[in-house]
Amino acid sequence: MEIEPFELERFFARFEHDADVMLAESGIQSRDTAEFDTDPGDLGYVIPTGGDPSFRERVGARYDRSREEVLFTCGAQEANFVTFAALMGEHAVTVTPTYQSLQAVPDAFGEVTTVDLEPPTWELDIDAVQSALRPETAVLVVNNPNNPTGRYLSAETVQALYDIAADNGTYLLCDEVYRLLAEEPLPPVASMGEYGVSTSSVTKAHGLAGCRFGWVAGPREVIDAAAGWKDYTTISPSSFGQHVARQAIEREAELLAEHRAQAAAHRERVGEFLAAHGLTWHEPTGVNGFPTIPDGFASGRSFCETLVREESVLLGPGDAFGHPDRFRIGFGLATDQLEEGLSRLDAFLARHG
Ligand SMILES: Cc1ncc(COP(=O)(O)O)c(C=O)c1O
Repeated sequence: MEIEPFELERFFARFEHDADVMLAESGIQSRDTAEFDTDPGDLGYVIPTGGDPSFRERVGARYDRSREEVLFTCGAQEANFVTFAALMGEHAVTVTPTYQSLQAVPDAFGEVTTVDLEPPTWELDIDAVQSALRPETAVLVVNNPNNPTGRYLSAETVQALYDIAADNGTYLLCDEVYRLLAEEPLPPVASMGEYGVSTSSVTKAHGLAGCRFGWVAGPREVIDAAAGWKDYTTISPSSFGQHVARQAIEREAELLAEHRAQAAAHRERVGEFLAAHGLTWHEPTGVNGFPTIPDGFASGRSFCETLVREESVLLGPGDAFGHPDRFRIGFGLATDQLEEGLSRLDAFLARHG
């Protein structure tokens, strides 16, 4: 079994440590540990290892599902991994461009057919998804809102995806890590019926990546099979992560109001900046956008590499998502950092214009 290199992580690994401004982070800036009680009591495994039952019940309620239909994991990354391990047979269909795990992990287990969102508005052709499904397709995968484009597929489109998946006996797995950054979040896919599975975490919308805390919600048979894989990956979620995540979910309304306001202000600021420089994007939901690169650069990669070397500002190259003519910008960072990054980018574009 082989897995392809995670292109964006490998690119970040080369520059992230030394760059002054990280302008490609995909979540909201991290909150401070001082805001939370960080003493979980004892440092054993979380018991039961699938996660605290009353907390799972609380998370399950947002999916109209019971505690037995929720499994706590170390981030959405593990939630996706164990879900793919549980579900994969021969074939998956993944809507792209997307976070690379959603394509590379099922591809390591079997075969993946991709269906592209169509630029510049990143529309999804439901007929193309229908044609990609096979009788043996185990899972249809979508990330909504989408990383890197910020496209939020409508309720009608998600319903159509669910219907064609369910008719085919295929699970619809939706990675919903950005869902709660939307002003009006759609109902989660795990609440849509027996073929709906949702993954999420407190990494992006809550600004708590270091908790390494996430979950998968869905039908009992999927959760039980995923738990069977999790016994071999991390056993239980982190006791610190669960302890802090629970407090964050208790304060969720307050945290989300703050984060959505910050996302909206920064989105507007970045939109104006891009327009002033003749760059275009589809206005994103969440805190990631996927603009076109400026003229004069051979690819998003050469643009991003030259920028980080000259200005110590890090963006994400679009080829990591299969679109060499674009770059990913993340604007969930602190306002002063965003302004510093944009000011350096402005100077860079003036020099290279
Ligand atoms: C769509 C998507 N899913 C999952 C993850 C990983 O999330 P976590 O930190 O909760 O493991 C990311 C991180 O960028 C992401 O963008």
